[in-house]
Amino acid sequence: MSSTEPLISLKDVEVHFKESGGTFDFFSEPETVHAVDGVSLDIEENDVVCLVGESGCGKTTLGKTAIGLQRPTGGSVSYRGQDIWQAKDKKGDVEVPYGDIRRALQIIHQDPGSSLNPNRRVMKTLEAPLRRWQKDMSAGDRRAQVLQMLERVGMTPAEDYASRYPHQLSGGEKQRVALVRALLMDPDVILADEAISALDVSLRVEMMDLMLELQDQFDTSFVAVSHDLSNARYFAAHGGGRIGVMYLGRLVEIGPAEEIINNPKHPYTKVLRWATPNLKEEASGEPPVRAIDIPDPKNPPAGCRFHTRCPEAREACRGETPESYQVDADHEVACFRELDDHEYWSSPELAGEGPGNEGEQSSAD
Ligand SMILES: Nc1ncnc2c1ncn2[C@@H]1O[C@H](COP(=O)(O)OP(=O)(O)O)[C@@H](O)[C@H]1O
Ligand code: SF4
Ligand SMILES: [Mg+2]
Repeated sequence: MSSTEPLISLKDVEVHFKESGGTFDFFSEPETVHAVDGVSLDIEENDVVCLVGESGCGKTTLGKTAIGLQRPTGGSVSYRGQDIWQAKDKKGDVEVPYGDIRRALQIIHQDPGSSLNPNRRVMKTLEAPLRRWQKDMSAGDRRAQVLQMLERVGMTPAEDYASRYPHQLSGGEKQRVALVRALLMDPDVILADEAISALDVSLRVEMMDLMLELQDQFDTSFVAVSHDLSNARYFAAHGGGRIGVMYLGRLVEIGPAEEIINNPKHPYTKVLRWATPNLKEEASGEPPVRAIDIPDPKNPPAGCRFHTRCPEAREACRGETPESYQVDADHEVACFRELDDHEYWSSPELAGEGPGNEGEQSSAD
């Protein structure tokens, strides 16, 4: 295992969920939800990656897969070169034990309230990870470290906050406690899943600034999930990171934050930008899509999944699935328009077809 291995490497990751019918539906075949399909992505040390896209496009599933909380149904996920699920299953030569991986990859949720035990004071909640991972630490040192961390996230007087129960904290304060709990594990990556969505708008920038400050101090990488492109832009741009755009389980474009905002290549990224109030320059006009409805992830369109809505779609987009093509260092786009010599350019346009062409949808595999 070399030190040049990425922190996390996702290769051709697929996550399909089998969904059975209702309780008394014994006869129909379970349906498959294509939550994530064919995603490859490396996360480096001290990295910031924001995943954006509409609700249900697979951001949470991909994020959880990246930190080893969701087992992929296809492809592989490794941590510093160690396949996470082989470590979990103790298969092959395991160089990094699963326990170390679990500690290194942490999560903070959208609703911090639900992840904090309502009957435990903040101190007890925050001592738990230290008790578990630093068994040699004395009780006094443990308390001192918790208090110091509370101060670092601006919860002062720390003694006062440490003695409170979750219901005695505001939403922003609960989220800070969740952040401290994750940081006390000394993690390499924190998945922040819509971590600021539940906060008042006025508190969001403050929370993002705090996460970025800590990212810098603790050398932690962040994978942030957000349905809001302007928040993703703030977080990724200030953290010197990338934005990854997802559509129906696929990563359709990824690149440096300002590239994605100012020079989006994928037609879907352009839609997202159009739909984000403080980013669109052309404040009016028709949305740059042919159809508004997002197809069902149980039956995603064949070929390019965006072809039923894409204003640039051509016949070739129905039959073949675009791979991710490199357009620049760090910038990849899954659209045939990035290839000068693709048959796309000589194939007839689909734009004239009505949007409601469900008939052409078929399962991708
Ligand atoms: N445990 C699960 N079982 C079945 N379907 C799921 C499960 N988790 C997520 N899904 C489905 O997978 C798709 C992607 O979900 P998710 O990753 O939560 O999207 P996002 O975070 O972008 O809103 C959705 O269609 C969702 O309903
Ligand atoms: S491959 Fe075709 S349908 Fe897909 S985004 Fe590009 S032009 Fe649109
Ligand atoms: Mg989600």
